[in-house]
Amino acid sequence: MVKDIILDCDPGHDDAIAILLAAGHHDINLRAITTVGGNQTLEKVTRNALGLATLAGITAPISAGHDGPLNRNLVTSPEIHGESGLDGVTLPDPAMDLDPRHGVDLIIDAIMESDPGTITLVPTGPLTNIASALQKQPEIASRVAEVSLMGGGASVGNATAAAEFNILVDPEAADIVFSAPWKVTMVGLDVTHEAQATPDVLDQIRALNTPISSFVDDLMAFFIRSNQREQQFAAPPVHDPVAVAHVIDPGILATEHRPIFVETAGKYTTGMTLVDRRPWINPDKNTHVATGIDVDRFWDHVINAIGNL
Ligand code: RIB
Ligand code: CA
Repeated sequence: MVKDIILDCDPGHDDAIAILLAAGHHDINLRAITTVGGNQTLEKVTRNALGLATLAGITAPISAGHDGPLNRNLVTSPEIHGESGLDGVTLPDPAMDLDPRHGVDLIIDAIMESDPGTITLVPTGPLTNIASALQKQPEIASRVAEVSLMGGGASVGNATAAAEFNILVDPEAADIVFSAPWKVTMVGLDVTHEAQATPDVLDQIRALNTPISSFVDDLMAFFIRSNQREQQFAAPPVHDPVAVAHVIDPGILATEHRPIFVETAGKYTTGMTLVDRRPWINPDKNTHVATGIDVDRFWDHVINAIGNL
């Protein structure tokens, strides 16, 4: 069944794979791409999104959203993604202009003009745009099928001992998103750390022998080096496309329906996504945490999508 998604992202090497998965997979109808300051500045991630859309032949509207968090200064991630946010590759000049609307308004318009329950929101960067859309038009919470977000973690952090990058950049926005009356699936580090671009995966991508597969090969070459240097991964976890794959094939992930709380004021734990796993506590919100992943099935979807482009 084809699913309609809006991808809110901060490309970013793994966001780029999420974009290619969404663009190439026949079970996804990519309704819009919005960008948010995160891995790099809004200007850089937006330029990257336009170049990726040109490369992949995406015709969906693309809008720039917030350039930084609701109440904090933006912290970027050049150590992982480079100064351009997509170091290691050369992007084509954009073949399209940005949609003139703010990303938050594009998100709201796309949801409000669609039948309730038809759109899934897939944020793969800080949650600033999503929180702002909720604040501007709370009705979207009742109209969105699900929020499948890459962020957080039940048992591990990366930006700090407690926090994952997307949540730490804007914990107040994350608190708003996790507290809203909609279904949230947290596709966190517990599963995305398993989604590694191993040599075998890269061999399968190279074997496609297309301009896009060659682009992905170059993209991953930089991402391999930065993840090895910064986080000692032999093969880099490709976080963001897992949130798209969950929409394509929900069986890929094992999930638990659990209360999830975002810490916004902890001396050591700001940005932590605290998952309440006490068996006698019944969840009072529709928040779910991904706890397991079928990695081979995940990569089959990604490679299939890249091959379709
Ligand atoms: O922690 C991983 C997340 O932070 C990914 O979305 C990556 O693109 C960065 O934004
Ligand atoms: Ca991202």
